[in-house]
Amino acid sequence: MARGVRVCLSVAAVSVIVVSIVIVTLIFTVFKPKDPIVTLHLSHVDFLSPTLPLNMTLGMMMTIANRNFGSFKYESSIGYIRYRDVTVGSVPIEAALVPARSEINVTTNAHFMVGVLLHNPNFWTDVVPGMKFNLTSTAELPGKAIILKFIKVKAKAYNNCQISVNMTSSDVQSYCISKLKFT
Ligand SMILES: *[C@@H]1O[C@H](CO)[C@@H](O)[C@H](O)[C@H]1NC(C)=O
Ligand SMILES: *[C@@H]1O[C@H](CO)[C@@H](O)[C@H](O)[C@H]1NC(C)=O
Ligand SMILES: *[C@@H]1O[C@H](CO)[C@@H](O)[C@H](O)[C@H]1NC(C)=O
Ligand SMILES: *[C@@H]1O[C@H](CO)[C@@H](O)[C@H](O)[C@H]1NC(C)=O
Repeated sequence: MARGVRVCLSVAAVSVIVVSIVIVTLIFTVFKPKDPIVTLHLSHVDFLSPTLPLNMTLGMMMTIANRNFGSFKYESSIGYIRYRDVTVGSVPIEAALVPARSEINVTTNAHFMVGVLLHNPNFWTDVVPGMKFNLTSTAELPGKAIILKFIKVKAKAYNNCQISVNMTSSDVQSYCISKLKFT
């Protein structure tokens, strides 16, 4: 290879590296990652039904909104539903890509161990006053943020939701807090 071509190629390579460093620095400083917004849509469960199974599969939908200029690609993982620190359910989450500045709807089936919930010694004392109880859910989605198609930064989304169930109306309200961190 001619010396001139080699010099030219190295200059090009160095420029690409410098530009990438500048972009990544900008992303970490000026364009701080915005946390995703996760919303749960749970099916209603009639907890007062005498035929309530001890284990049930509950269809649910999760909306994941990505407010960043980069897309977020996450690996499959499992979320957990807890009642007073006792795991009462698991939620498989399949790998997906959330494009930049858009949202996706993810449907899944939560495996809900109703028996474990109803047999918790605190359950009825919590429920009796207002016929309602709270659950929490947590999920960690490891993946990567993809910026300008070629810059990939390892990142993890952390999601925590408070779920309150009104047994009288079977109404389920949830409120989630999510964080995105570069790892
Ligand atoms: C309910 O599911 C749990 C966990 O999957 C399992 O250990 C348990 O045996 C199941 N119970 C019944 C009654 O099917
Ligand atoms: C996700 O579901 C919600 C509620 O059903 C709907 O309003 C929204 O348009 C859906 N979004 C996408 C990207 O499909
Ligand atoms: C459920 O959570 C709500 C909101 O965080 C709280 O106001 C309420 O007291 C909780 N209820 C129970 C039974 O713990
Ligand atoms: C639960 O639902 C019933 C019936 O819709 C309603 O009367 C009651 O106010 C609700 N309870 C709470 C705490 O929201």
